[in-house]
Amino acid sequence: MQSLPLLLLVVPILVLANEPPPPESTNVKLDKKTVLVLFGTRHGNRNPEKFVQTPDRNWGQEGELELTSIGKRQAYGLGQEIRKFIGKKFVDPNFLPSQAKFYSSSANRCQMTLQSALAGVYDPTKWADWNKRKLEHWSPVPYTTDDPMLRMYSVKGCVNSDKAWDPISKDTLPDLKELIAKNQALLNYMKEKDGRDASISNAADIADNIINMDFFNASYPDWLKNPTLAGHTAASIRAAFLAFAENHMNRCASYKPCRDMMGGLWANHIISSLEAAASGSSKTKLIGYASHTEVTLSTMIVLGIDKSELTTSAGFVVELRNNTTPAQVRLLQHDPAPVDKHVIYSAHLVSDLASKTDANGWMPLPALKEYVIRSAFSDWEAQCGLDKCKH
Ligand SMILES: *[C@@H]1O[C@H](CO)[C@@H](O)[C@H](O)[C@H]1NC(C)=O
Ligand SMILES: *[C@@H]1O[C@H](CO)[C@@H](O)[C@H](O)[C@H]1NC(C)=O
Repeated sequence: MQSLPLLLLVVPILVLANEPPPPESTNVKLDKKTVLVLFGTRHGNRNPEKFVQTPDRNWGQEGELELTSIGKRQAYGLGQEIRKFIGKKFVDPNFLPSQAKFYSSSANRCQMTLQSALAGVYDPTKWADWNKRKLEHWSPVPYTTDDPMLRMYSVKGCVNSDKAWDPISKDTLPDLKELIAKNQALLNYMKEKDGRDASISNAADIADNIINMDFFNASYPDWLKNPTLAGHTAASIRAAFLAFAENHMNRCASYKPCRDMMGGLWANHIISSLEAAASGSSKTKLIGYASHTEVTLSTMIVLGIDKSELTTSAGFVVELRNNTTPAQVRLLQHDPAPVDKHVIYSAHLVSDLASKTDANGWMPLPALKEYVIRSAFSDWEAQCGLDKCKH
């Protein structure tokens, strides 16, 4: 009876507010008529932006914001599950450029996530097995970095992205103001003990520290282990900080101007890729993308998935089958469980879209397009308010 609370303390399970929990294992199968599979993922577990001071930190050697060994394992698990899902006939176990295309944000953690995932997708055999002396096979796989699509918030001169972020970054949205007011004592305690400014994003970074201290079985600093803040125990202060995890990123995704700016170009790429496969102008069978919380979550919401947060290495899968006119699509989600194991399952859709699917989740491609088109765009420079002459 004693081990249960302890277990809850060490395994960082993020309880997702209004979503049904993911199943224990993958509960969907590739359709026999599927001609294209796309997957998008948030990068795996990464280090915080600023490490909490502890006397003997035994983790984080990769550096601030970099992908950790846990993150690499999560991404590798995703890749293995994608391979299990697509099998060895749909896409060859050896990388063939005519079959697959991959994209990443320029951030190290996203590129390394994609690389780890692709090591799980491709297990080279026969002519492609170039490293026979090693038991663990992997194949180098090329990819394109595309920041307008996968990291718009850091595209230089994209003034409309900065504008969309402004009320979030500056905490001027009414609910963010209220959150600060409600948690002022906690934020001040953080400032007093850790030295960082009493802001939401800094509290979110404490949450990232806690998540990793749990993953690496590291001991908490004394101000978290034995809190001196009135009304708090070790468990309650931990929970209070964890509630801030990814707060600004999630808020961006639930705030339409920010969501559309982050996810609109990626969503457009997804629809165009689906249409190209349906018309036969492209024979690509697998497309993979690695990005950030706010971009991946925004894109999922633009696609009609009912979601408010996204854990590390989680994301979506889209399947297109082409045996009907028009072609049909199915939206799936994927989640780590919680590190090496990964699950793929039917997406939890908003009712507008759920009403258009059959019992197995398939809907006509034009129905998805009609939903997505409200937020999608292709001319990102115009959307950014970039001066094309100067650019
Ligand atoms: C932390 O402890 C758990 C439970 O003992 C163990 O399974 C896990 O491998 C440890 N994590 C690391 C990174 O050593
Ligand atoms: C999908 O079906 C259309 C119409 O039959 C065909 O032209 C196209 O090549 C098919 N796409 C793929 C990827 O097989």
